[in-house]
Amino acid sequence: MIPESFKQDLLNRVDIVEVIERYVRLKKSGANYVACCPFHTEKTPSFTVSQAKQFYHCFGCGVNGNAISFLMEYQGLGYVEAVKDLAESVGMKLPEFEPRGASKAAAGPDLYEIMQRAAHYYREQLKGSPAAIEYLKGRGLSGKIAARFGIGYAPPGWQNLEAVFPGYQDKALRDCGLVIDGEGDRRYDRFRDRIMFPILNQRGTVIGFGGRVLGQGEPKYLNSPETALFEKGRELYGLPQARAAIRASAKALVVEGYLDVVALAQHGIEFAVATLGTATSAAHVQKLLRQTDEIVFCFDGDAAGRRAAWHALEVSLPLLADHKAVKFLFLPSGHDPDSFVRERGRDAFERMLAETRLLSEFLLDELKSRADADTVEGRSRLIHEAKPLLKRIGAPALQLQMVKQLADVARITQEEAARLTEIPVAAARGFPRIREAAALPSKARGWHQPQRSLYRKLLCGLLVAPTLREEVPLGELDPTIPEAQAISALAEIWRAQAALDVESAIACLSVPEHAEIVKVVRASLLDIPMQDEAREKEFHDAIRALRAQRPNPRLKELERKDASAGLSEQEADEYRRLIREDAALKQSRSSQANVLKF
Ligand code: UTP
Ligand code: MN
Repeated sequence: MIPESFKQDLLNRVDIVEVIERYVRLKKSGANYVACCPFHTEKTPSFTVSQAKQFYHCFGCGVNGNAISFLMEYQGLGYVEAVKDLAESVGMKLPEFEPRGASKAAAGPDLYEIMQRAAHYYREQLKGSPAAIEYLKGRGLSGKIAARFGIGYAPPGWQNLEAVFPGYQDKALRDCGLVIDGEGDRRYDRFRDRIMFPILNQRGTVIGFGGRVLGQGEPKYLNSPETALFEKGRELYGLPQARAAIRASAKALVVEGYLDVVALAQHGIEFAVATLGTATSAAHVQKLLRQTDEIVFCFDGDAAGRRAAWHALEVSLPLLADHKAVKFLFLPSGHDPDSFVRERGRDAFERMLAETRLLSEFLLDELKSRADADTVEGRSRLIHEAKPLLKRIGAPALQLQMVKQLADVARITQEEAARLTEIPVAAARGFPRIREAAALPSKARGWHQPQRSLYRKLLCGLLVAPTLREEVPLGELDPTIPEAQAISALAEIWRAQAALDVESAIACLSVPEHAEIVKVVRASLLDIPMQDEAREKEFHDAIRALRAQRPNPRLKELERKDASAGLSEQEADEYRRLIREDAALKQSRSSQANVLKF
C-alpha cells in the first residue's frame, strides 16, 4: 500500500499541466487549460485542466481526476504503476512497496535495460540477414511495419549474446530468460535462428520476446519464460503500438497471434492486440476495458475457436458495465486474421468487423445450441445453465435484459426467470436486501430530490476529508436513494481498506451507477471552490437535515436492522408500508411548500 503522505508529496511535486502535456496538447484558456478530450472523440475541446486545483475534468464525457488518475486512464496503468511512473518522472522513489518484479530489478541490475539492449541487437541482426528479411517479405510485411513492431532476428549460433553482454555469465541474463543454463553449467542463448517479436509492456518497454522459426520447425514459436518482468497471462502483444488506434476507433480487437497483429497493422487495422498463446484472462479484459468501451474478440470459426470465445465470454461477464460492449467475430474456417486480411484485404475485414456478434447474442445462442428449447426438460436445462452465467454479469441493465430474454426463450415470465436465476428483476444492487424499494410509485420518488442533494453534500465531505468517514450514520441512510447507496458502498470499501485513496475506492465500486455518482460529485468539487472546513460544516448540516426529515423512529429502527441482521418477511412488509407512508407525507409537505411559495 502506498502511504497517503507519499501520494500527497508526489501530487505536490508534480504539475498536472506538465504531466498531461506529455500526451495531450493543451491550450491556455482563462485560468485553465483546454484540449480535445483524449478519452472520447470530439471536435470542440471540453477537456479542462485546472493548474490551481491540479485537477482535470471533461465536460463532454465526465472523466476527471488528478495527475495519478490521468496516467491510470490514459496509459491504462494500475494505481501503483501510475504512482511509480509519476514518482520516477520527478526523481522520487517509492517507499518500501514496489510492484511485482520492479523491486527485483531495482535491487540488482536493470533487467529492463538488458531486454532493451537485446531487442536492439536482434533488430540490428535482421538488417544483416537476407533469409529473415525474405521471410518477412514473404509474409507481406514492409520494413516500416517491421520497424513499428521492433521485429528482429536472432541469428543461428549458441552464444551470440556473449558479444552483446560482457557479463554473459551474470545471473541477470538468465533472470531475463535470454539464456538457458544447460548441463555442466554450459550456458547458451535461448533464441537461435528465429524471427524475434519483442513484447512490450504498456509503457513501451521490452519485457519479453516471441521467436518464430523461419518456415517449418518445432516449436513454431518460442517465448520468453515467465520472469520478474514478464507475466504471460497478463500481457497483450502490440498494446502500446495499438493504443492511439484503439482510442481513435473506440475499440480494441483481440486476436491470437503475433503475426495477426502485425499483418492487420500492415493493412491499416491498427487497433489489434494478441494474447500470448494463453487463454483470455481477466487481466486482459480489464486492461482493455480501462482504455476503451468496446472489445471485439476475434477467433477462428472452428470448434477450438468457439471454445476459446466462450472462455473469453465467461471471463468478461463480471467485468462488464452497461456502457461497455464485448463482441465476437468468427472468421471463416481455415482463416486467421493474417491470412484473411492478406487474401481478401482491409475492406473485407472491416465488413466483417461491422457484423460482429454481441456477447448477449453469443451467450443465448450458445445456450440454445446446448439444450432443446422445444422440450420442457431442454428449457429447464437451459435455465439451469444460464443461471450462473447471468448472475455473474456486472452490468445491471444488461443483466436485466438477459433475464428477460431468457424468460422468452424458456417460455416463462420474467418474474419466474428472475426467481429461478436468483436475480432480482428491479436490481437495486449494492443494497440488495430491500430491492422492492426501487419499485415505489414513481410519484413518491419525487421527494427524493432534496434528499439526494443532501446526500451529495455528505459525499462531498467524505471525498475531501477522510476523517469524516467515521461519522457517516450508515444505519440511517435511505437505501432507496442511489446517492445513499453509493455512500454505503464507499464506506464498505473504506472499512475494508482504510488507506485507499478516492480514485482507487471509486475503482472498487462494483455498481456503475454508484461510481458515476461519486465521479460527478467529485467533479462538482471543482465547480464550487470551498474551504475544507466549510465542507465539513456542510457535511454535518446535511446529516442533521436528513435526520429531521426522517421522523419515524420505527422506520429508523427497521433500517438499522436491515443493515445489520436483515429483516424478516413481516418486517420487510412493514418497512415498505412505512416508506410509502413517509414518502406520501413528504410529497404532500413539499407540494404544500410549493403552494405557499407562489
Ligand atoms: P498460431 O499457431 O495460430 O500461430 O498460434 P500464428 O500466430 O498464426 O503464426 P503463423 O501465422 O503460423 O506464423 C497463435 C499464437 O499462439 C502462440 C503464439 O503467441 C502465436 O502467435 N504460440 C503458438 C506459441 O506460443 N507457441 C507455438 O508453438 C505456437
Ligand atoms: Mn497465422
